[in-house]
Amino acid sequence: MFVPKSEIITKLSANVPRYTSYPTAPNFSPDLGPQLVEKMHASIDNGGALSIYIHIPYCDRLCWFCGCHTKQTKSYIPISYYVETLLEEIELHRKALAHSPEVAHIHFGGGSPSMLKSEDFNELSKKLRTSFRVTEKTEISVEIDPNDMSDDMLVGLQKIGITRASIGVQDFDPDVQEAINRPQTFEQTRDLIEELRSINISSINVDALYGLPRQDMNRLNNTLEKVISLSPDRVAMFGYAHVPWLKKHQNMINDQELPNIEQRHQQADFADQFLTSSGLQKIGIDHYATPEDSLTKALNEGTLHRNFQGYTTDQCNNLLGLGASSINQYDGGFIQNTVPTKQYKAQISEGKFAANRGYELTQDDRIRGYVIERLMCDFSFNFDDVAIKFGDTGTPIIETAKSVVLQDSDDLCWIGNGKFNVSADKRAFTRIVASKFDAYLSKQNSKFSKPI
Ligand SMILES: C[S@@+](CC[C@H](N)C(=O)[O-])C[C@H]1O[C@@H](n2cnc3c(N)ncnc32)[C@H](O)[C@@H]1O
Ligand code: SF4
Repeated sequence: MFVPKSEIITKLSANVPRYTSYPTAPNFSPDLGPQLVEKMHASIDNGGALSIYIHIPYCDRLCWFCGCHTKQTKSYIPISYYVETLLEEIELHRKALAHSPEVAHIHFGGGSPSMLKSEDFNELSKKLRTSFRVTEKTEISVEIDPNDMSDDMLVGLQKIGITRASIGVQDFDPDVQEAINRPQTFEQTRDLIEELRSINISSINVDALYGLPRQDMNRLNNTLEKVISLSPDRVAMFGYAHVPWLKKHQNMINDQELPNIEQRHQQADFADQFLTSSGLQKIGIDHYATPEDSLTKALNEGTLHRNFQGYTTDQCNNLLGLGASSINQYDGGFIQNTVPTKQYKAQISEGKFAANRGYELTQDDRIRGYVIERLMCDFSFNFDDVAIKFGDTGTPIIETAKSVVLQDSDDLCWIGNGKFNVSADKRAFTRIVASKFDAYLSKQNSKFSKPI
């Protein structure tokens, strides 16, 4: 991949969203939320299969880099109460639905779901299975912090039929780990993956980061060599999002130790070359997968999607978000649950849904959301597809595409063969290109992270 000149990198380093939804969560309105829940249930009742996301907002230590909704706890008591609340929340949804929908995917995310005791995994699984139609085809995935590894956790994962695990690595270098408060040896990570494979959790994703304090090419190279030696099916190679104005604990990271924007570019580029030359296929802006993996197949078939969990093969129109801060997605819009766990628990225990903020999609949002998703997945969108999907209402976005190309002095994009395309050597700037189709960005761009 061609590394753009430093001036271009600096010029294009504006803060932009990661586009895991459009509009993005900061645009959800505090005036909407509970009112949309009924519409969401109607959409689930009328829709096909459902996907479920369960958020566990607890960790036993806080990594300084972390951008997730989580908090530290040394005690299991708050987690026990939280699981009870999740069970009540599932029951509220079960009662509100006319039918029991088939479930395509269940994802336990966090925070660290790997902190859950096996009995709690079991209770949640039982409740999901008695409330919805979980079948043999249902894919069940979980995010695991290797520091939580225990026999009890492995028993829990095996019992509930986990099919895919995502392992947080970040970086294996002890000096980098010290700077981010994330001690984790290669050996414990390797042992965990071996244990997971021995209990038939055969699909393994590894999360790694570039742009971390004290990271340099040599350290990144060593980490990636170790990552590849684990034979992961997927690797997520995220750029560290340094947003201390949103995540106060990131102030523990010494700004002076962070790579500058040009070094970040070089690291992203190096990781990209390393992972692709190791036989992995690049998926979207920051994922890599083996040629046999379902993400690669979806990319090749043009059915790759992007949702709040990142790149996915999930085709469901409805995503039920359970737990504090979780986002529900339905045909007509989005609903985010209350973020503070105390308030979330209070709402559910009063027998109310925890819906806090929401958004109802307009036709313009759907069209912009469609082209942004295609750009993030395929680096292009096809004008005929827009016309087939949206008819005449799609015409303005094609005009927008033409004017984006006209105003583009950095050769980021071009139009040809009936498609709007991100230039092959500028794919690192895809978030910037996507942002040109975002009607809301100018109102709140400073809240986001660097595009690379
Ligand atoms: C919920 S966390 C991981 C699960 C588990 N708690 C762990 O740390 O292993 C999901 C992933 O988000 C990524 N992540 C967290 N904070 C980030 C940040 N500030 N910038 C970029 N990626 C981040 C990390 O790679 C992390 O593995
Ligand atoms: S990175 Fe994972 S373990 Fe670390 S604080 Fe965030 S969610 Fe918890």
